Amino acid sequence: MELLRTVDAMQAQADTARAAGQTLALVPTLGALHEGHLALVRRALTEADHVTVSVFVNPTQFGPGEDYGDYPRDLEGDRETLAALDVDAMFAPSVEEMYPYADDEALSGPLAWVNVERLDEHLCGAYREGHFRGVTTVVSKLFHACKPDVAVFGRKDAQQYVILQRLVEDLLFDVDIVGVPTVRESDGLAQSSRNEYLDPDEREQAPVLYEAVTAAEEAIEGGEQAAEGVVGAMENALAAAPDADVQYAEVVDAHTLQPVDRLVPGQEVLAAVAVFFGETRLIDNTFAQVPPAQA
Ligand code: PAJ
Repeated sequence: MELLRTVDAMQAQADTARAAGQTLALVPTLGALHEGHLALVRRALTEADHVTVSVFVNPTQFGPGEDYGDYPRDLEGDRETLAALDVDAMFAPSVEEMYPYADDEALSGPLAWVNVERLDEHLCGAYREGHFRGVTTVVSKLFHACKPDVAVFGRKDAQQYVILQRLVEDLLFDVDIVGVPTVRESDGLAQSSRNEYLDPDEREQAPVLYEAVTAAEEAIEGGEQAAEGVVGAMENALAAAPDADVQYAEVVDAHTLQPVDRLVPGQEVLAAVAVFFGETRLIDNTFAQVPPAQA
């Protein structure tokens, strides 16, 4: 596996692979790789001949007061993990490489942004201003650097996944987006780099997020047609954790990401939660198809 630190070197490797007739897949990550990321990598290895994993803690998607400085970083550990999986390239640029103008005082920061409108109005987007603009901008740049045919993302970050699908559609990126189901710990907690911030007591309570989205799924499959009823089922489950500070529990249309009031038979919906345990913010979700109306 090659470790590439510059956009030029990455583009050259992508061009060489393509000239040799290979198809290319990209798995973008913030690093500190865990089993959730590795499921994406394994999927990418089945999707294309040449697999790049990018490891870049992207400053533009962290808001003020978020955990950019503290975000776990383990470049050497990630390199060993990826080399063992037979990944072809690890793209790990510096911040200066990805945002070379950040220190230009006259015109500081990026001036060109990529933004997908509307889809960031609810769920995480309502609470993390500018977050998805940072994600869509850096993913666009990663696409230009790594030149993939296929890019693999986790459905754990459901809103991100839906927004990125719309990004490639609207901007005619010639990249297929593949979504991988959420990888969980044995007690249901979704794998996340942020789980390591939890103290033992919080860790014990954290599976309530999974219990909440499972309760939502059961309510929907059981014929609940009021979004309020589904939200109530999630809130009930979350109430079992004394230290859970619920940021949101919502049901939205899975494509428009706008809130729904009545669930329509056949409609695909997304039930999602965000919960703080102390400073640690965790998310979980489920996509569900509303069953046909019962006679
Ligand atoms: P990061 O949080 O590192 O996640 C990288 C990818 O791994 C995302 O597609 C995410 O959905 C997926 N992932 C994380 N935990 C998962 C789990 N438990 N099961 C399945 N997939 C999981 O998401 C980002 O980075 C960034 O926003 C990024 C897309 C890299 C842009 O900077």
